[in-house]
Amino acid sequence: MWEKKMGRNRGEKEETEKYIGLLKLVQILSFLVVFVAGIIIGLATSSHMNQYFTPSLLLSTNHFSGLSFESNNCSKNCEENAYLHFEKFFHPENLRHRMSDEQLFWRASMVPSKEEYPVVRTPKLAFMFLTRGPLPLLPLWERFFKGHEEYFSIYVHALPGYKLNVSKDSPFYGRQIPSQNVAWGTVEMADAEKRLLANALLDFSNERFILLSESCIPVFNFPTVYKYLSGSEHSFVESYDDPSRYGRGRYNRRMRPDIKVYQWRKGSQWFEMHRKVAIYIISDTKYLTIFRKYCRPSCYPDEHYIPTYLNIFHPSLMANRTVTWVNWSVLGPHPAMYRKENITEDFIQSIRNSNGTLCLYNEERTSKCYLFARKFAPDALEPLLNMSSKVMEF
Ligand SMILES: *[C@@H]1O[C@H](CO)[C@@H](O)[C@H](O)[C@H]1NC(C)=O
Ligand SMILES: *[C@@H]1O[C@H](CO)[C@@H](O)[C@H](O)[C@H]1NC(C)=O
Ligand SMILES: *[C@@H]1O[C@H](CO)[C@@H](O)[C@H](O)[C@H]1NC(C)=O
Ligand SMILES: *[C@@H]1O[C@H](CO)[C@@H](O)[C@H](O)[C@H]1NC(C)=O
Ligand SMILES: *[C@@H]1O[C@H](CO)[C@@H](O)[C@H](O)[C@H]1NC(C)=O
Ligand SMILES: *[C@@H]1O[C@H](CO)[C@@H](O)[C@H](O)[C@H]1NC(C)=O
Ligand SMILES: *[C@@H]1O[C@H](CO)[C@@H](O)[C@H](O)[C@H]1NC(C)=O
Repeated sequence: MWEKKMGRNRGEKEETEKYIGLLKLVQILSFLVVFVAGIIIGLATSSHMNQYFTPSLLLSTNHFSGLSFESNNCSKNCEENAYLHFEKFFHPENLRHRMSDEQLFWRASMVPSKEEYPVVRTPKLAFMFLTRGPLPLLPLWERFFKGHEEYFSIYVHALPGYKLNVSKDSPFYGRQIPSQNVAWGTVEMADAEKRLLANALLDFSNERFILLSESCIPVFNFPTVYKYLSGSEHSFVESYDDPSRYGRGRYNRRMRPDIKVYQWRKGSQWFEMHRKVAIYIISDTKYLTIFRKYCRPSCYPDEHYIPTYLNIFHPSLMANRTVTWVNWSVLGPHPAMYRKENITEDFIQSIRNSNGTLCLYNEERTSKCYLFARKFAPDALEPLLNMSSKVMEF
């Protein structure tokens, strides 16, 4: 009886254990189901997030996924992959993106707090071409750039819909940035300048930023330009107080109290600036908003916004002169245009040596004041190419 009972008891116990075992199995299975479902949901969401974030916030499609999944199956080439992603972040090659200006300026305003770079960084010059469409003097620029690929980047802002037609081996190939319409003489010009600066700032190797038009030419060779700009303590932003109606006359009293008339400055649109200064410019919203409201024709934001803004906040960083020569000797809305018949060796030489006048470069007097010149008509290309090696030394 006892034994039987024991037996029955043992039997019951076995039954119970079996039952508990089964319960545990079910538990484990359902846990597994939930776990796997979790993983699937997780994967689905993050790939969705990638799709969502990549085009708008980051230039490189591989960047986000590089951080999340590919590192999971790390083999020998993982280090290489991580490095490639870093390269793309540091030096984006593809200029296309879908950021709005607001997103772009925010992203471009980011500054690393670490002073040393984790790569060997060759400082580059960013040449930013602001044009309606074609670049008729492009062959001269291509000759200027040839052989110095490591030291420059090119950015082109043309009107939306215009596609620059250049061959694949041109340094201008694939260098058009996402653009917007620009009505000349309006604040849209300043918007376009900021758009060029911000796109160029995304590349951490760019150190100096030069704004040029389709009618600009270089008057020195690349090594001279590189040395001159990277060695300068100042940014070549022209800034002066013009008491006439073309200067202070364009000031609007409603800009007070943020901008006072004695702070108002005028200067050439065609600037050259250091990375630090470029970041100050693209980070400003408040002052450009004031210009948007109160600087309307015949006030031209492209001649006043940057010189005035820098005069208020960072005057000591400016050289107060431009490195782009122009002939304003005949009064009027447009400077002199040089055509085929006007191009002589003496003329180009006189720009190169500033016609004997002197200017300041790092507190020293020099006759080398201009690196670029404007305005040159498309038919000036031929005589310029003819004399480039003899006169401009490229
Ligand atoms: C991860 O593994 C898969 C399958 O072996 C392979 O196809 C893929 O290229 C690997 N990814 C990386 C980043 O190594
Ligand atoms: C682009 O330039 C090439 C060579 O100059 C020319 O053959 C071609 O027709 C041009 N294409 C367009 C769309 O203008
Ligand atoms: C340019 O002008 C500003 C304001 O007048 C001045 O602070 C700055 O030192 C000038 N720059 C040079 C290089 O003289
Ligand atoms: C500047 O332009 C005017 C008018 O076009 C011309 O007469 C003058 O010679 C030009 N000056 C120089 C230095 O080329
Ligand atoms: C260019 O040459 C033409 C013809 O000689 C002359 O009338 C014109 O003033 C010159 N332009 C400049 C800017 O020197
Ligand atoms: C240089 O100076 C001479 C004499 O003042 C003048 O005739 C010439 O137009 C000037 N050239 C330039 C490029 O400024
Ligand atoms: C090129 O320059 C030379 C002299 O320097 C001149 O003889 C020749 O006519 C020029 N050719 C063109 C196309 O301007």
